[in-house]
Amino acid sequence: MSTRERVLSALRDAGESGISGEELAGALGVSRVAVGKHVTALRDLGYDVHATPGSGYRLLQAPDAAYPWEVEPLVREELWLRPFGGGPSTASTNDDARTLAEQGAREGTVVVAARQQAGRGRFGRVWSSPEGGAYVSVVLRPAVAPADAGTLALVVALGIAEGLEALGVPARLKWPNDVKSPDGKLAGVLLEMSAEADAVRWIVAGFGLNVARPAQAGDSSTPNGPGFERRQVAYVRDYAPDVAVGAAAAACLDGVARCYAKWLGGGFMSLVADYERRSVLTGERVVVSNALGAAQASGVVRGVDGEGRLLVDTGGAVEAVTSGEITLRA
Ligand code: BTN
Repeated sequence: MSTRERVLSALRDAGESGISGEELAGALGVSRVAVGKHVTALRDLGYDVHATPGSGYRLLQAPDAAYPWEVEPLVREELWLRPFGGGPSTASTNDDARTLAEQGAREGTVVVAARQQAGRGRFGRVWSSPEGGAYVSVVLRPAVAPADAGTLALVVALGIAEGLEALGVPARLKWPNDVKSPDGKLAGVLLEMSAEADAVRWIVAGFGLNVARPAQAGDSSTPNGPGFERRQVAYVRDYAPDVAVGAAAAACLDGVARCYAKWLGGGFMSLVADYERRSVLTGERVVVSNALGAAQASGVVRGVDGEGRLLVDTGGAVEAVTSGEITLRA
């Protein structure tokens, strides 16, 4: 825990009665000047710290942001290793988690940020990452062959949907790994993998979660990269107005851990029914396009199979689609 986090933790423990600068300095083994600097840094991050001559510092309010030290205490599942990495802002939590994975970070390593400057989405798109969202990446090291790891993106999306459902959000799934409400996209998943011929070295699963509508978001769409259409965006808070950003991120991490455990035990087959129940595509007429936007298949979706493939009834046959972008047809 950094000194700043220890100052924050001491302020939290002190509660209403507060704690003097002298007591804080003594408890943390730093100078009073250093305590003052840490309090200023906390205020810069949005913590409302009141200082009264005589009675010292009191924490009045914490910011509503996905700072790793705010999310970490709310997460219950043991898979996720403490302390969480990340911070108020980073280029991309997936990049950070990849670096950690390359350096040998263990399964369950978590990186969280309240903003990203260079968030990445699928197909090389930009993932807009303003304040009010939660940007989370985790390192996984399942003992499976690379070909069997492909369904993990669906598993992570399912975990997010289950976590959000527990908060009262009507979260549905759009194959392969979009989490949606009836009004737009709530979260997206980006899975990156390093593997040898027959074994996964690491997987980084990142998700971006739209929690609170950013101040400047005029309409409910956001550009997600050049050459692609504007997408409808939805926010967790549209359905669960009282949920803090950190609590939403924690609920999703817990949902992902539970689904991951189920997947390790029984493969994607053990999750097909849970996935199907939330799928917005089953029974719908769709077009499947590749990364360049070229149509590959069209037909009526019959479901998802045990290998995570989308089953599209093209009229003459049922095609099992392994990847692509799905557009619903009117
Ligand atoms: C998508 O295109 O739908 C996937 C978006 C994934 C965005 C998340 S935000 C956290 C992590 N860091 C990134 O740069 N991307 C992923």
